[in-house]
Amino acid sequence: MVQRFKGSRVPLFQPWGTRQEGRAVARVLRSHWWAMGPEVARFEREFLEALAPDDGWHAVMTNSGTAALHLALVVAGVCPGRSVVMPSFNFVSAAHCVRLLGGEVIFCDVRDFDLNLDPVDAEVRAQPNTVALVALHYAGNACVWTEIEALRQRKPMVIIEDVAHACGARTTGWRPAGFCGDLGCFSFHAVKHIASPDAGMVVTRNRKWAEAMRRMRWLGISRDTGDKETKPDYSITGVGFKYTPNDIAAAICRVQLRRWPRGVCRRRAICRRYDIELFDLPWLQIPEVNWSHGAPLIYWIRVKNQRMRDALREHLRERGIDSAVHFRPLHLEECYRRSALRLPVTERESSRLLCLPVYPEMSRKTIRRVVQAIRDFGEGRNGGN
Ligand SMILES: Cc1ncc(COP(=O)(O)O)c(C=O)c1O
Repeated sequence: MVQRFKGSRVPLFQPWGTRQEGRAVARVLRSHWWAMGPEVARFEREFLEALAPDDGWHAVMTNSGTAALHLALVVAGVCPGRSVVMPSFNFVSAAHCVRLLGGEVIFCDVRDFDLNLDPVDAEVRAQPNTVALVALHYAGNACVWTEIEALRQRKPMVIIEDVAHACGARTTGWRPAGFCGDLGCFSFHAVKHIASPDAGMVVTRNRKWAEAMRRMRWLGISRDTGDKETKPDYSITGVGFKYTPNDIAAAICRVQLRRWPRGVCRRRAICRRYDIELFDLPWLQIPEVNWSHGAPLIYWIRVKNQRMRDALREHLRERGIDSAVHFRPLHLEECYRRSALRLPVTERESSRLLCLPVYPEMSRKTIRRVVQAIRDFGEGRNGGN
């Protein structure tokens, strides 16, 4: 019989909002400029001031992380007859964008210790027509950048970082994730480190690409929506999308940006607490990552097999604790399935993986509740066997 849980649920994610966000939104509403305008420009500037490691970066805000990836893939030259390498252990956004541009998606495997892409496998799978590689920094742990740089030396291609999970993570040489490759794509969706109803950002050092993405985010129109006074006329210089962010989301993002370093510290502390509380369980594997370099979005554990994972997930659900499987391999999804393609690490690890709640306001008591529920599961199964 399914036990019904009474009491508060523990969500997987929860945005950290305060009255400051409310005041920022009210200010925009009173200004009567709700569409893309001065708040977007300010957020783009402040984002670079907070994150960019040096001068020369351009930031183009969009209405989602998916839109950011789409624009990045366009300027990277993805079109029919060209391909893009990315891990199959991934959210679907980048793959769909490649397909929508008429390009081919080449999936590669991940490494079992951090679940980030395997550069050796990516290199083997890349084709002469491969123009770009999408490097996802999974769950807030940055890829080892020296290896990706070495891969690019041998196989020249545009490197796009998917930083949706990792705003604030550091990689080789303490470089911030998103500012290592040619284009960095961030998401400010409600569950992310900088949370808003929906928004994203592309950063690049390439001024021409930045200008092209700026035009494309607003239907190829040569003037931003907030520029009416300085540029009264406009022309349509090419085709584009309706990927404009709005000032309400940007105002929320500006407040979130100021709180973001504290949020990252809290997320690290929660993951360290999980490490300490769970490392002695022989039936469960904790992540082998250094949280002090990361900006964790989720905490992932691995158990013996899929049956055990699904049973643990159900056990947590009955106790009011949300968990999730991020990600199921894309190459096994109907839309991308190819019978011959086998990615052994991706298939094995995703089948036994479970993601646990992490959000800045998660209390010690709530962490203990999650840990206790996991321990009870092990005891109920004779030590997890
Ligand atoms: C790894 C990854 N990339 C891209 C995205 C897309 O971001 P958005 O939801 O802002 O479009 C997500 C969303 O969760 C994601 O997890």
